Amino acid sequence: MKVLAVLYPGGPAAKNTPELLGCAENALGLRPFLEGKGHELVVLTNKEEQLDANLPSTEVLITTPFWPAYVTKERIAHSPKLRLIITAGVGSDHVDLAAAAARGITVAEITGSNVVSVAEHSIMQILTLVRNYLPAYKQVLEGRWDIGEAAARSHDLEGKVVGIVGAGRIGQRVATRLRPFDVKVLYYDFRRLTTVEEEVLGIRYALLDQLLPQCDVISIHCPLTPDTDGLFSRERLFAMKKGGYLVNTARGKIVDTLGLVEAVEKGHIAGYAGDVWYPQPAPPDHPWRKMPNHAMTIHVSGTSLEAQKRYADGTRDCLSRFLEGKPLERDYLIVDGGKVVSPSYSFAFKQ
Ligand code: NAI
Repeated sequence: MKVLAVLYPGGPAAKNTPELLGCAENALGLRPFLEGKGHELVVLTNKEEQLDANLPSTEVLITTPFWPAYVTKERIAHSPKLRLIITAGVGSDHVDLAAAAARGITVAEITGSNVVSVAEHSIMQILTLVRNYLPAYKQVLEGRWDIGEAAARSHDLEGKVVGIVGAGRIGQRVATRLRPFDVKVLYYDFRRLTTVEEEVLGIRYALLDQLLPQCDVISIHCPLTPDTDGLFSRERLFAMKKGGYLVNTARGKIVDTLGLVEAVEKGHIAGYAGDVWYPQPAPPDHPWRKMPNHAMTIHVSGTSLEAQKRYADGTRDCLSRFLEGKPLERDYLIVDGGKVVSPSYSFAFKQ
């Protein structure tokens, strides 16, 4: 069996850090496991031509959201042997799920593998924006000491209203981690939680368009689906409270690219952070790189060393089961038996 993995190039760090499992060089630790069983493992760092040359003979494709191979319907049409696509991580929007379902290809992701990692990153970025951390840090590097300039945009998080959009595994962990900051938390999700869950998490439900003007900070945690593509349109960005902050560790395409630049440049949105872009890797001239008052990172929130271990283990578990003809972990399944089965995605793919 041929397994194709498209992974990020680890560079010199790959040699010095064996725990960097998710890079092409370390191949999720899968090489001895697969080759020991007589299977072929081809690892690419996503050179489009190499991907297209390898896909027709591939049975299992492994890729990650951090350095995705975009598995379009055209690519699926040219991959007659493809039976399983594994996302080593969480979020399978880089795969055309409808096309995979139509072809009976199973799509699985390693559900839960990096949800704590992302929740921590989101909290870090909320504080980075609200406390105005980066401009104050920049002054240190520049040999400056202008308290007025740094403090004029610095706030306490305490007492603010925070909105969570998508209260699943990550959104709920963000809510839990916000508790010690004494904020009021509202949330929107197309599936409302139970009263008990809301009570335990200390969060209150609001429809999206009611939540937008009430929040000082909004953190996005829903998947990218046909329903959430552009959910934060220019109109919705300008419907946010003036001077609010937006953090998006979910997917870049959920936020309108140029609408965001305009809202930040006009000061309607006081700051934007997150680690997700479209496309990825973001080109050097991506407009978000240079817009004012942002605190973005490259897509690393879900790929801490601990997360890499968890998603490498999960990927191996999927492969073992697949090779033994056993069903995959139910929670991992996004597309199965010709249908989009994940509860977070299925509504958007009404079949
Ligand atoms: P989850 O499936 O546990 O939660 C997603 C929540 O979003 C669910 O409660 C679902 O009902 C809700 N949702 C789905 N469609 C919606 C819509 N149209 N409107 C409102 N809510 C909607 O997923 P989890 O683990 O919390 O991850 C969420 C997303 O975060 C992933 O799909 C992925 O895109 C992103 N992610 C990013 C990572 C990173 O490294 N930056 C790593 C892991 C996930």
